[in-house]
Amino acid sequence: RQHPEVEGLLTSATSPIFQQGNSGTDQQSHLPKVTPAACRCDVKDRELKFDIIPNDHPYHNAKNPRTVGRANEKLASAVEEVKKDGRTCLVVGGDHSLAIGSISGHAKTEPVIWFDAHADINTPLTSLSGNMHGQPVAFLLKELKVSGVPGFEWLKPCLSAEDIVYIGLRDVDDAEHSLMEDTFKASKPIHLSFDVDGLDPPLTPATGTPVPGGVTLREGIYVAEQLYKTGLLSAVDTVEINPRLGKTQEEVDSTVNTAVSIILSGFGKAREGSHSCSY
Ligand code: ARG
Ligand code: MN
Ligand code: MN
Ligand code: MN
Repeated sequence: RQHPEVEGLLTSATSPIFQQGNSGTDQQSHLPKVTPAACRCDVKDRELKFDIIPNDHPYHNAKNPRTVGRANEKLASAVEEVKKDGRTCLVVGGDHSLAIGSISGHAKTEPVIWFDAHADINTPLTSLSGNMHGQPVAFLLKELKVSGVPGFEWLKPCLSAEDIVYIGLRDVDDAEHSLMEDTFKASKPIHLSFDVDGLDPPLTPATGTPVPGGVTLREGIYVAEQLYKTGLLSAVDTVEINPRLGKTQEEVDSTVNTAVSIILSGFGKAREGSHSCSY
């Protein structure tokens, strides 16, 4: 735990996963250099590229189902490989639809901590926006039995409602409200799915669907630190970071830096400083 091995999956900016969900990672030059030393992790990077499927007509209200479905299939196998190597998996998105592949590929996924202003539990039938980023939880839940969506033939719902804990919720659609449950059994490997819009908007302004009244930086870091301390954090998604939506360089920097500090805390960087105990 002191020296977790991390595998990063840097998803590619060409994917509609980013476009339709309005996230993007095209301005990677803004990302600060995070040295493995910052959290004393052994980091292994990789990049995924996704295909855009032509004539990707909506399935009920769900937009770009085939493109998002295939991309998630690819992501699921990549996450699976990382976990087979016994490493902790960090996915840098990309919008929250990527949690479908990330959580599916993370075989031991209960519980999932969904850190978000939104419940993301709409189905292709209930979604008002049609955005796939508002639907990943529904696709993953056994109870909701979402099926028949083109592009998602490979998907087997792997979560039960009692496996999900929400933190930061404050913008839940009426249809979503009736679908929700909060339960948590903290004994199995934990998957943290971290949407930066769960934080208060001034912290991460470069994101697509900001909602006022969010979690403070101190609270967000505290959550990540506590999860690290459980020793059960097994995979992390960081999503809805979109440099293109920053109005100024300062907004982009603050979004990226905030996300990086949350990630570092989840991987063992302590605010009081880390030291080895061999004195
Ligand atoms: N509930 C809204 C919808 O279904 C907003 C979802 C926002 N989700 C997100 N990952 N930013 O479209
Ligand atoms: Mn989004
Ligand atoms: Mn989300
Ligand atoms: Mn959200």
